[in-house]
Formats: sequence, C-alpha cells, structure tokens
Amino acid sequence: MTTRQPVVAIDGPAGSGKSTVAQLLARRAGLQFISSGAMYRAVALTALREGTAAMSPERLAAIAAALPIRFTTDAAGTVRTWLGDEDVTDALRRTDVTEVAAVIAKIPAVRAHLVARQRAYGAEGGIVMEGRDIQTVVFPDAEIKVFLDASAEERATRRWKELRAAGSPESYATVLADVRARDRSDRERAVAPLHAAPDAITLNTDGLSIDAVVAKLQEIVEAWRTPR
Ligand code: DC
Repeated sequence: MTTRQPVVAIDGPAGSGKSTVAQLLARRAGLQFISSGAMYRAVALTALREGTAAMSPERLAAIAAALPIRFTTDAAGTVRTWLGDEDVTDALRRTDVTEVAAVIAKIPAVRAHLVARQRAYGAEGGIVMEGRDIQTVVFPDAEIKVFLDASAEERATRRWKELRAAGSPESYATVLADVRARDRSDRERAVAPLHAAPDAITLNTDGLSIDAVVAKLQEIVEAWRTPR
C-alpha cells in the first residue's frame, strides 16, 4: 500500500514568488508541480494564434475543454509546458499572452473546464499546484493550503529589478501601478476572486528570501507527513 501524499494548494497575488517557490517545494518534497496559470495562459496563446474570431466565450470554452496541455521536467529540474508537441514555456510569458489570459480567466465556462482538469491532476494527491483559486475553489479540502502574500511595494521592487536587469526602462512608479492594477483585477473580479481560505496558512514573504520561504513550506509538508 502506498501512503497518500498531500495536495499542496498555493495561491497569492502576481509577483508573490509563488511560482518559483511552488516549483522548488515540489522538487524538494518529491511532489509534482502544476501551474494553473500556465493553463489559462495556454488558452490565451491558442486563442491569439486562432485570431480574433476565437475570442467568443463559446470558442474559448471549447479551447479550454480540448487543450492538449502537458507538463514535463527538464534535466535542470525546470518544469516545461507543452501544447501537443510544442514546448510553449517561453511563449506563455509573452506580454500579449499575459494580457489575454487575465481577460479569459474571467469567463466562467473557461474556468469550469480548467478547474475540472486541475482536480483530475490532484485526484491521487502528490501535487503542488499554484494559482489564484486553488485553496478556495479547486481544492478546498487540500491537505495543505497556503496563501503567499507580499506587499505591493515589495512585489513591484522585485519586478522592477528584474526588468532593469533585462535592460527595460520602466520606472518604479509604472511597475507599482501595474502591480496594483493586476491585484484589483484578481481580487475584485466576480468569478473566483483571489483571497485566502479561512483555514489557509498565510505567509507574508516581505524581506524573506526564496530559500527561506521554501524551507518554511518544506517544514509544513514534513510536519504533515510525520505521524501524530
Ligand atoms: O499566475 P499567472 O500570472 O501565470 O496567471 C495567468 C493568469 O491567469 C492571470 O491573469 C491570473 C489567471 N489565473 C486565474 O484566474 N486562476 C488561476 N488559478 C491561475 C491563474
């Protein structure tokens, strides 16, 4: 008999570091990592490729229902996202994909299809999934629920440093305004708005390194695994 491994559900605002943290936690704790955001982005990428006709809610729902998405881990331990035989990991980070993903994520029929697929990934346990509604809607009964938060200023500073390192000229004020706009879009939308579940562990990552956050989460997983 194999022991059930936990579903670790992690949500948080854009820029809270949840994707990096969730990936590292999954690797170190021997769990599978799934980015639910990559699924919304993959619907957006497919719709962009099909052109504007693909933007009707019915067509978008059909794309979500039939999305040929799968995840693999490369030699460096990085999770890659595939649509059919194409590695779309980098394409999913494009600005136009980010913008369209935020719009299509508000369509209930798209969410319904993706949520069903997300639940199927976690049916046997043993996963770390991150997103906006994983600990509230997708897995309200997850063994471990975490809300990873950070102040808008801290998240804007992290993003602004990344952009500056990449040679991008955006000012800090512009980046902060963008972070706040994305927060409003995630937290105030009618369908599956971002919030912490009442029984989630909220971790504020202001001033904490990625390693420190991952170590904290590993402790939580190990405590769960330790027989009481
Ligand atoms: O986390 P991310 O930036 O890759 O997410 C992409 C978009 O999908 C973003 O607009 C938020 C949305 N999203 C969502 O609505 N629900 C999720 N569970 C995950 C992402």
